[in-house]
Amino acid sequence: MKHLIDPTDLSVEEIDGILNLALDIISNHDKYKEACKGKKLATLFFEPSTRTRLSFEAAMMELGGNVLGFSSADSSSATKGESVGDTIRVVGCYADIIAMRHPKEGAPMLGSMVSPVPIINAGDGGHNHPTQTLTDLLTIKREKGDLNNFTIGLCGDLKFGRTVHSLIKALSRYEGIKFILISPKELKVPDYIITEVFEKNNIDYREVTTMEEVMPELDIIYMTRVQKERFFNEADYVRLKDTYILDKSKLKNAKETLSIMHPLPRVNEISTELDDDPRAAYFRQALNGKYVRMALILTLLGVNV
Ligand code: NCD
Repeated sequence: MKHLIDPTDLSVEEIDGILNLALDIISNHDKYKEACKGKKLATLFFEPSTRTRLSFEAAMMELGGNVLGFSSADSSSATKGESVGDTIRVVGCYADIIAMRHPKEGAPMLGSMVSPVPIINAGDGGHNHPTQTLTDLLTIKREKGDLNNFTIGLCGDLKFGRTVHSLIKALSRYEGIKFILISPKELKVPDYIITEVFEKNNIDYREVTTMEEVMPELDIIYMTRVQKERFFNEADYVRLKDTYILDKSKLKNAKETLSIMHPLPRVNEISTELDDDPRAAYFRQALNGKYVRMALILTLLGVNV
């Protein structure tokens, strides 16, 4: 039985398989509509979510399966003091597969150690978010045609942003990718990403503090929200939250072929004046999340269509 806790739990070949399956689902949607008939997905969200939870649920429904679960810790027995391990053992009696989000780093990993069914990490604190990464990879593949040879600027909260940590780990296994890390000094990527991912694998990376200085080089700009819920101090959040706002004027020197990505939710990081720009890929990215989760559910359940 396979779980998905860290993006590198999947080999590059397995990721390729999931992305190709997602592309087939997009082209031949009806072929899959009963693929998970009689199966149940549980979504256990101990932390809020719109896209991840609803796209998981929509994915299972479009595969003909059913969903159950909860959308906040308050509506689960966590409030009575139940451990994550016990919750997972019990839900594993009711569901065939579990997608779980938790504010504590490592909680889904703990769950996977006792789970009788596959566990998918749908975000654990500031750590990882592997299904957002699959979403991002499918988006890059569809927008750019290839997962190799491009320059990506990751901008915003690179310290607490789990989508950024997971995406860096996954992309570090492809060829010819240059990373430009754009953040205030307080929100730089954690040291382990620099040493364990970039330096260990001899990857081309650079840290800068403004997007203007690197805009002409970028093939992709990946904007992120400053992660309010992970700050210890409200004043720091308020000071940093609007450091980067991408708008028309900032794109003056950008490539015509730039792709603008964002895992969403957006606060102020991207002006709504860009929403109709053909380079704005973030709503297409959200849709890709549903297809890639369909492909992931099929893969982890071992369903062949
Ligand atoms: C992200 C998350 O939850 O980490 N959202 C998402 O899943 N699409 C990004 C964020 O909350 O900023």
